Amino acid sequence: MCGIVGYIGKKQAAPVLLEGLTKLEYRGYDSAGVAVSDACGKIEIVKAQGKLKELKKKTNDGKSLGGNCGIGHTRWATHGVPNETNAHPHCNDDGTIVAVHNGIIENYAELKAKLIRRGYDFYSQTDTEVATKLVDYYYKKYAEPLKAVSEFALKVRGTYALAVLFADRPEEIYAIRKDSPMVIGTAGGDCFLASDVPALLSYTRDVYYVENFQIAHLKDGKVDFYNLDSERIDVPVTKITWDAKAAEKNGYEHFMLKEIYEQPRVVEDTLNYLVQGGEIDFSELQLRGEALKSVRGIVIVGCGSAYHVGVAMQYVIEDLARMPVRVELASEFRYRNSVLSGEELLIVISQSGETADSIAALREAKERGLKTLAVVNVVGSTIAREADWVLYTKAGPEISVATTKAYSAQLVAGYAIAIKLASVRGTVSAEERRMLVAQLRLLPEKIREILQEPTAIQQFAAETMDRKNAFFIGRGIDYAVSMEGSLKLKEISYIHSEAYAAGELKHGAISLIEDGTLVFGVLTQEGLAEKTISNLEETKSRNAHVAVVATKGIEPPKTCDRIFYIPQTDPHFTASLSVIPLQLYSYYLSVAKGNNVDQPRNLAKSVTVE
Ligand code: G6P
Repeated sequence: MCGIVGYIGKKQAAPVLLEGLTKLEYRGYDSAGVAVSDACGKIEIVKAQGKLKELKKKTNDGKSLGGNCGIGHTRWATHGVPNETNAHPHCNDDGTIVAVHNGIIENYAELKAKLIRRGYDFYSQTDTEVATKLVDYYYKKYAEPLKAVSEFALKVRGTYALAVLFADRPEEIYAIRKDSPMVIGTAGGDCFLASDVPALLSYTRDVYYVENFQIAHLKDGKVDFYNLDSERIDVPVTKITWDAKAAEKNGYEHFMLKEIYEQPRVVEDTLNYLVQGGEIDFSELQLRGEALKSVRGIVIVGCGSAYHVGVAMQYVIEDLARMPVRVELASEFRYRNSVLSGEELLIVISQSGETADSIAALREAKERGLKTLAVVNVVGSTIAREADWVLYTKAGPEISVATTKAYSAQLVAGYAIAIKLASVRGTVSAEERRMLVAQLRLLPEKIREILQEPTAIQQFAAETMDRKNAFFIGRGIDYAVSMEGSLKLKEISYIHSEAYAAGELKHGAISLIEDGTLVFGVLTQEGLAEKTISNLEETKSRNAHVAVVATKGIEPPKTCDRIFYIPQTDPHFTASLSVIPLQLYSYYLSVAKGNNVDQPRNLAKSVTVE
């Protein structure tokens, strides 16, 4: 969603803010703005519709804006179209209170009506203007910024990371958050604030993760924290161990391609963390076998690709650990009155750890008495902090909106959970377990092997870039991968695409197959391949353009137009290999169409609204 930054220090603020926003551009990219204040407190706001480069052009890379204190924002529109008026920062009537906000104020209409009754006018359609004017109202009432910000927090419903400048308090920033991420760092007399760590990494590695309802006051090179009663509180500093380079493109044309090619390493890193001496070892998670013994069932929740990982895990856990597994979209689980015994383990999967629906599903499960395990990539994120146990995927910062390496890291984390459950429940022998772990260990090399041969996929993407519709079909784990392949394609190529369980196609969707419709079949499961091949033949007889991703050794349909082979592995783990050609296909097709691969239209990397 939106990205916010703030800076006070010895440097000119605007270039620092723009640099921070560049690192956060993946979070929002339909408009951007900065506000800087000089030592006398005069606040200047500049905004631009479109990508950040428009704002950079307007401000000569920030150089045309004086002042050492400021806030900035990249927007992903929620309330109001993406134009300059709706872009942040927003201000009160005389421009003396200026704010940026990430999140959604749910009761903004009600608050706006109240403020109108009190004489306020509104120039934009945004909930953030309402937030800013609400702070203004309480500042006028109490003349105390901490009080104004805490009253704001008490009156609004929804999520926010809010940073505010007050003209009569030059060179100070006040900030507060609820359920939208915010980190703060200090270094050599400078203070930085951001939605996400990459924006701070070139300045500092010591960061404060601001918790819900904590107010930060940045001034004179340091930050003080307060609770809603304006009492000072301590917030611990966390050392970031990421390599700053990990959030750079390193010579690749796009983050997505770089992240696709990082997959062998992140899978290896995640396995190194989860496997010790040939056995799955969860001691780093402080998750002991005994805790898993009492688990009677598994509920997996996630959104988007994380949900697709859950679908693959369902097949693997049920087969290996012989226990009931349910996978649900987090956005559905949270509102359903699910029948739960309380003895299930809820596994929540999330790259960002900040997805609003996944957080809500986690909280719902905790309220219902379930133990919770989070599979999360971002250290210190909300989900990581709130779950009983955290399994960190070692993907490092993922910048491209379309996930690839985090998905792959989540998959192997899922296999490790399945093997652990199987071993606790005694459903696989020690020998089988060792074989499975040995096969897991070979995955990075096999992914590397697939990545060495991208040319055929690139060619196929160029040949098929004009297609209007695509289907991805498979059975079992191959269906789970079809869902991910289809999502990747529609996300970044804007081609309409659907995933179908291969056997289901003939119950409706086959009516959409016509001359040249693209159909991708995924064939990695020995016993199921023949069935899916028959379904592919059915589409071929209706003139579909058929491509197949198949494990070496599986004989694809004679009539298919293109085959991409992947190496053999244990049948439980094939998703880790079959997804790679599909990721590359979407990537190259998006490049061929000239799309913005890393920042596809209408999408956001971290979806912090419901
Ligand atoms: C967004 C992203 C997807 C991601 C989903 C869940 O829609 O564009 O790539 O799979 O959110 O995000 P999470 O951070 O919870 O994994």
